[in-house]
Formats: sequence, C-alpha cells, structure tokens
Amino acid sequence: MRQKIVAGNWKMNNTNTESELLLKDLLSYNFPSDVRVIVSPPYTQLGFISEKLKNFNIGVASQNMHYASNGAYTGEISASMIKNSGVFITILGHSERRTYFNETDDSLKEKVNKAIKENIEIIFCVGEELNDRKSENHFEFVKSQLEKTLFIQPVASWKKIIIAYEPIWAIGTGETASPDQVQEMHSYIRKTISEKYNKSLANSVSIIYGGSVKPSNANDIFAQPDVDGGLIGGASLNSYDFAAIVNAS
Ligand code: PGA
Repeated sequence: MRQKIVAGNWKMNNTNTESELLLKDLLSYNFPSDVRVIVSPPYTQLGFISEKLKNFNIGVASQNMHYASNGAYTGEISASMIKNSGVFITILGHSERRTYFNETDDSLKEKVNKAIKENIEIIFCVGEELNDRKSENHFEFVKSQLEKTLFIQPVASWKKIIIAYEPIWAIGTGETASPDQVQEMHSYIRKTISEKYNKSLANSVSIIYGGSVKPSNANDIFAQPDVDGGLIGGASLNSYDFAAIVNAS
C-alpha cells in the first residue's frame, strides 16, 4: 500500500511567532491516521519546530539541502545541519529553486546522492513550464528530469524517495491542473519508473501533486488513482485550509 502524504511548503513565510501559532492550530485537528502530514518551514525554524512536534504525528522537512558535507558555501545548509535540527526529510528540486537559484539537474543529482547517503528522505519535485505543455513536450520534459536526477539511483534508494509533480504554470498562480491532467502525468511517471526499474517498485512510490491545491479542488485531485497526496504551498499557511486538504486525501 502506498503512503498518502500531504506536505505543507511554507516557503519564505512566517516569523517564529506566526509559525508557532500555525502549529498550535494544526495540532488542534485530528488528522486521519492513514495520512502522513509534513510541514516544511524556513531553515531558521527547523530546530524549534521539530522539537515541538517531537511527540506528534507531523513530520518536518527542510526546503532544500546542499550536496557538500560542509565548506565555503555561504547561505547554504548541509545534511548534517538538517539532521542536527531533528529533521530527516528534505524537499529537493522545487521549481522556485530551479528558477531563482539556478539549480540544475546536475546539481540535483548530487543533492539526491548526498541525501540518500545521509539517510535523509527526499520529496523530489519535477514539472514542466507552460510552453512545454503547449508544445506537448511535457511528458518528455518530466521524463528527462527523472532520468537525469533519480534514475541513476539503485532500487534500494527508492525507499527514501517521494515524487512531487508540480507543473510550474500551476504553482502559486491559482491555476490548477485538471484532475485528468494530473492523473495522466502521475500515471506516466509511474509507467516510466516501471520501465526503468520494475512494476512493483513503481507501484510502491508515492507521487504527490502540487500547484494551487485548495480545499475546493483537493477532493477531485486526490481521488485520482495515481495521486498519493499533495505538496501544498499557499494553502498550507492557513491551518483551516491545510486541515481541509489533509482530510480530503
Ligand atoms: P502553491 O505552491 O500551492 O502555492 O501553488 C505549491 C508548491 O510550490 O509546492
């Protein structure tokens, strides 16, 4: 059985006080026990949030991680720093990292290697731009992202990999991919994993969707057979909306 996952990517939002309030609200909900709930706060809050969530069933992820163990990389964060903060999951390859901070498939391949080596679980983002979809190149584009970053990994690494399909044109734009478009891509990703590895591995990987998920569209998206949950940006900053999305999964 694949795991259902709903992860909130808080991005560069929330002061410590705001995050504490958000957490307090989130902890007042009874989430379904079959859904794995994760929050991803900014770096400076990883330590205190993982401490606060120590005895609760909500996981914590960092929003990024460097591939080097340590060194002269001003502004970056290492695997051991993340683990030192009590965090064992990281998002990698978010389109905002790729677009604004020039992350490439090459550097992401190194980050994936490092995370696996350090036993850190990965929520790995893939997704096409609007132009790729308009020119019907979206499947090939996503396949190439997977081939260059994840398909180098041996079978054993996949226990630590969650894929997030996030079409760039749907992130933070209010424009959601339709449930059919989401299902079509998720099923394609699963087929691609099956061709590269095997069917049983493909069926065991959680593939979650991100891009303007809201309480009003979560049910229809999560009802798709190859959708195993969501990576939620804007709506994860509001406890009521986030809880409604978790409950829809
Ligand atoms: P959004 O962001 O829900 O605000 O579109 C999703 C994401 O960037 O992970």
